[in-house]
Amino acid sequence: MDRDQLVASSISIISLNQHPRGGYVASPLFAPYTYSWLRDGTFIAYAMDQVGETDSAEQFYRWIHYALKDKRSIVDDLIGKHERKEWIDRSEFMGTRYHLDGRDDRSEWGHFQLDGYGAWLWGIVEHIRATGNYAILEELRESVEITVDYLMIFWHYPNFDCWEEFPEFVHPATLACVYGGLKALGELENRAVLLEKAEQIRQFIMDHAIKDGRFVKSIQCVNENWQPALPGVDASLLWLAVPFGVCVPTDPIMQQTVSEIERELKQGGIQRYEADVYYGGGEWLLLTAWYGWFKAEAGDQDEARRCLTWIISKADALGRLPEQVGDVVRNPAAREEWIAKWGEPALPLLWSQAMFLVLSNKLK
Ligand code: BGC
Repeated sequence: MDRDQLVASSISIISLNQHPRGGYVASPLFAPYTYSWLRDGTFIAYAMDQVGETDSAEQFYRWIHYALKDKRSIVDDLIGKHERKEWIDRSEFMGTRYHLDGRDDRSEWGHFQLDGYGAWLWGIVEHIRATGNYAILEELRESVEITVDYLMIFWHYPNFDCWEEFPEFVHPATLACVYGGLKALGELENRAVLLEKAEQIRQFIMDHAIKDGRFVKSIQCVNENWQPALPGVDASLLWLAVPFGVCVPTDPIMQQTVSEIERELKQGGIQRYEADVYYGGGEWLLLTAWYGWFKAEAGDQDEARRCLTWIISKADALGRLPEQVGDVVRNPAAREEWIAKWGEPALPLLWSQAMFLVLSNKLK
């Protein structure tokens, strides 16, 4: 499989696995992933915009609108509870994934995840900038404002991270998504309130999520003091620089963070975090693409190209990319347990195909 073939198969896999209503299935052949996630979907739509498949991205954002547009009363009720300082159970918050046609998913899942809500605001602004289609913002206005109101109030609540774990903590990568979404929309529409909130979030990250000169995976508030909740880094910290711009890639704190990611999580590809047990904690293709993207932005084209070559080497004969590969795993016994439970890791994962497209496009 060469690069052009993998570009073609990635676009075709993404297109063929988009529901007529716009949802992208996370993975069509892996039963637990037969839903559409705000997080995966936004980056898939971003990739489709990058390669000129803007109609597909537009359909995805319509799908989000369909999923969220009638949730105004839910968000208003949540905000009311917050203002009255009432307890809110995690299950009451908005979902992280929906059915492919936009209906709610009522199954048990780690629903309270804020990153996808921030990410999609960022994504729709990227889409508008790529296409000049400002009219879509008015079409989606109700769901955009529901999302804005939701994030403006709940951004600092502990919630599941982007790997759908550790709901008791606050995660800098999640905050980066919220920051990126509010900032992008604030700039597009010249809305000072959104820009002020984004700056407050950025300052919060800088004040509370740095230890030993680098960002930390998660933080928690103990006796009114924020402190690191887990040792080590998480490769999703790359999102702080690309694409959300909490800091620039050359920022010394970011550089320190990436050195630690390289030391702890870099094999040929990139693993998620030190204690990862999901399928043993193998190397993730989308994170390897992300790291390559970061390296390209930071000026290291050679390393970015090496990442691209590594990803291409993991494609199967049909041009499909998995979620992760098990060449080097952190916990081999756990990998066997997951295979016994759910079968082999997801293949194809549309988010992997998408991040390959993003990196490939950056290196054109
Ligand atoms: C990952 C999530 C992802 C979901 C669907 C989970 O295993 O941790 O980040 O959104 O799969 O791809």
